[in-house]
Formats: sequence, C-alpha cells, structure tokens
Amino acid sequence: MSERYVVAIDQGTTSTRCIVFDRRGQLVSLAQQEHKQHFPKPGWVEHDAMEIWRNVERLAPLALRRAGAGIEQVAALGIANQRETTVIWDRRTGVPIGRAIIWQDTRTDALVHELAERPGAKELEDRSGLPLATYFSGPRLRWMLDHTPGLQARAERGEVLCGTMETWLIWNLTRGAHVTDVTNASRTMLLDVRTLDWSPDALDFFGIPRAMLPEVRASIGAFGTACEAFPGVRIGAALGDQQAALFGQTCFTPGEAKCTYGTGSFLLLNTGTELVQPAHGLLSTVAYQVAGSPACYALEGSIAITGSLVQWFRDQLGLISSAPEIETLARTVTDNGGCYIVPAFSGLYAPHWRSEARGVIVGLTSYITKGHLARAVLEASAWQTREVVDAMNATSGLTLKNLKVDGGMTSDNLLMQMIADVLDVPVVRPLAVETVSLGAAYAAGLAVGYWPDLDGLRQNWHIAGQWLPAMDPSLRDTEYANWRRAVERTFDWIQ
Ligand code: G3P
Repeated sequence: MSERYVVAIDQGTTSTRCIVFDRRGQLVSLAQQEHKQHFPKPGWVEHDAMEIWRNVERLAPLALRRAGAGIEQVAALGIANQRETTVIWDRRTGVPIGRAIIWQDTRTDALVHELAERPGAKELEDRSGLPLATYFSGPRLRWMLDHTPGLQARAERGEVLCGTMETWLIWNLTRGAHVTDVTNASRTMLLDVRTLDWSPDALDFFGIPRAMLPEVRASIGAFGTACEAFPGVRIGAALGDQQAALFGQTCFTPGEAKCTYGTGSFLLLNTGTELVQPAHGLLSTVAYQVAGSPACYALEGSIAITGSLVQWFRDQLGLISSAPEIETLARTVTDNGGCYIVPAFSGLYAPHWRSEARGVIVGLTSYITKGHLARAVLEASAWQTREVVDAMNATSGLTLKNLKVDGGMTSDNLLMQMIADVLDVPVVRPLAVETVSLGAAYAAGLAVGYWPDLDGLRQNWHIAGQWLPAMDPSLRDTEYANWRRAVERTFDWIQ
C-alpha cells in the first residue's frame, strides 16, 4: 500500500501555507503564498478573504505535487488559522461583503470603550474568559454590521454569514458547511467558555443575530469532506493557530506551556479540563476539544507585536533588507546603549490591555546606532515575554521551569538567549519548528485514526536547541525596571 499523509493548512496573518506530514510528524513538502496586507487608515488592517481562498486552491495541488503524493494518499486535512480575523459573506453567492478585518485592527477602539460602560459588560468578560478589547471578533462584527447599510437586516434573515478564517475556508472547501471549532469560537467574546456554545446574553449584548453564526464543533472530530482543493478528503480538525502550536508542541499535560514567535507572540499554558479564572491581563481560552470528550483549557498571554516589529524595521525604516539580518545588526553592539522600543502599534495586549497606547522609542542620544536600535527591537520581544510570564506565574500559582518556543523568530539565536536571560529559565526549541501546521496535522490525524493517541505524538517531539540564562541578576532587574518605565510612556501619549 502506498504511503499515506496528513495535510495541514496554516492560514496565518501574513501568508498561507499548505504542508504535507508523514506518520513520524516529519515535513514532507511545503507550499506557501503571502497575501496582501491592506492598511486603509491608521490602525486599520484588512485582508481580502477571496485572495486567501484562491491561495489555498493554488497551494493544495502544489504541496501534493512537491510531496509526490496523490490526493488518495491524503488521510485527513487539518486547518489552523489566524484567530479573531472576521469576514462576512453572502450565503447565496459566497462573495465577501468588504474585506476581512484582522485581529490587529484597532478601529473598534471607541466602540469598545462605549461597550465597557454598558450593563452586562462584566458578565460578558466572565462568560467569555476575555477582556473587552479591539482584539476579539465580537466588537468587530458589531462594527461591520453598523457600517454597511442594510447588513443587520440581511444578517437577521440569514442572508449573510460570518466567520473567522477556518469557517471561511471550510465553507469554501466543502461548498457550504458553515462551522467553526471551539478554539476559534472562544476568541469571539460570543462563546460561553463553559457551555461551549454561543451565549444568548453575549449575542444580545452585541446585537448579533444567531442566524449569521456558524455551528460550533469540537476541534478534533468532523468538519465535512472537501469538494474543492482537496476533493474527497475528510477535514478532521480545525484550531486557532496558537492552540494548534500548543498541540504541535505536545503540551497535553496541565502545566506545559509554549510561546510562538510570529507576527505577534502568544504564550499558552495548558490548564487541563478546569477553566482557570483569568487574572493579571491573561485570557482563558479553549486549548482543544476531542469530539465526545471534555474540552481542555489554556491560559494565554497575547502579545500583539513581536515579529511585526522586525518587519516594520525592515519595510518602513529600511534598516535591514531581510528579517534574519536583524541578528547580525544587533550583534554589532554589546547592549542597547540605553535605548528601548515599545511597539504598541495596536495598543498593548497582555498584561496591559490598553488599546489606546501608542509605540515609543525612548533613550535616544547621538550615541545610538542602528545596531542599538536592532538590539532594542529584539529586546522588546524578550521583555514583553517576561511581562506575560510574570502574569502567568502569578495567575496559575505554577512557576514556569522552561519555555518551549517555536515560530519564525526562533531561528534568531541572539533573541533566544535574550529570552532565557530575561526570564531566567531555559528556552527550548524543538526540531519541528512548523508547530502550528504540525498541531493541525496531529489533530486531523487523530480524528481519523492515522495516529492512535496523544502518547504516540509525544514521541515525535525532539529537542533541537536550548539556551540557558546567563544574565547578571542585578542587570536583569535594572533593565526590567527601564523597560517598565518605557511602557509607561506609551500610556502618556493617550489623548
Ligand atoms: O490571535 C492572533 C494570532 O492567531 C495570529 O497568529 O501567527 O497568524 O500572526 P499569526
């Protein structure tokens, strides 16, 4: 019998990837396509959902061809996706109503402040496990319904549908299944994280008609069979990309954590089947659910801007020509020269949740070179991680012993050392760095019996690199205090 594979689609913020994995969890082939980022106004960020779907259609045969595999060799398809990004489309034609509004978009800032004053706001936060913020889909959906004439009435009649990116892709793959999974649904503010269904109170609060919402399903189970792109292949799993990375890092036991360094960075700690009441600016979110079993929850520390800061340094300032060059430039100096960059481009997420904060560079003198700035860019990711880890330790009562990392930025060895230094714990990078796709593949493979159980998956996890803390404790304390003073400056800019 010919070899069988599992395929993952990783629909991320900057690109879409289609990856073929074998039974040992090894990457057999990859096809990737970037999509356009639209910035129509300051703080606004949009994607063309149709462009993203077309990319999936193109990438699917390409990935299979590169693997030398036929469609009949694909045992299952798993989807991982950028979370909270929201799109509305016409149920009959399948054409999106405007562009998708992405998770980094802050246009709902004023709306969020107004909603926070309304009766029921506190209960909404308790029920959803999330703070009222521009980050999540609920306010975004309200904004969309308010800004297209007649859309609310059409939504009430069920003529238009909404969803996050996995819902959009599954709808197109299956030609019409309108479904989401519990992890993505848990990022909308519309889900009751305990009952794992849409909360009628939350729908009332935002004025969102249930008729436009997808059906909520377990993340590992059945999402239909693809007719397009992967005809005949069963879609076994869908997860938000950060939950997929937790799964791909095989953090199946309470107390295990990972941090993914992509556009933003997201630290998730498995808290088991008990929902932990979030505190210190963390979120409670669903980590995954196997159909027929209780959901597994996680605490999350979300950082909006890490890799995006390197992109900004490259594209907007032009100080490097490729992202990996930041490490070389940062190594031209031995410290930050007293300079700190706080990238509050989309406000600040965890642990602050200040959507109105704006980025700052502080400590500039004529001594500062682009090397110091490069160092400050990398340090920003490390210190933001430290803030989240402090919140995690305080909330969970556990003390993080080491940090499993993944994502594009983890190829930067200087950054990995900085993170170990500021956290004062070892940082560990696995051999398989495509953990988002791997997690989606693992989940889909489990759904169809391609892999028998979680233990088998753990055996595929191998260490590739480890960084041990080597920073003088008093220097660490001083630098952290400086970082925190710089963070305070981002709030001063608020009008
Ligand atoms: O919550 C946003 C997150 O899912 C985005 O991840 O990797 O697409 O930037 P990424």
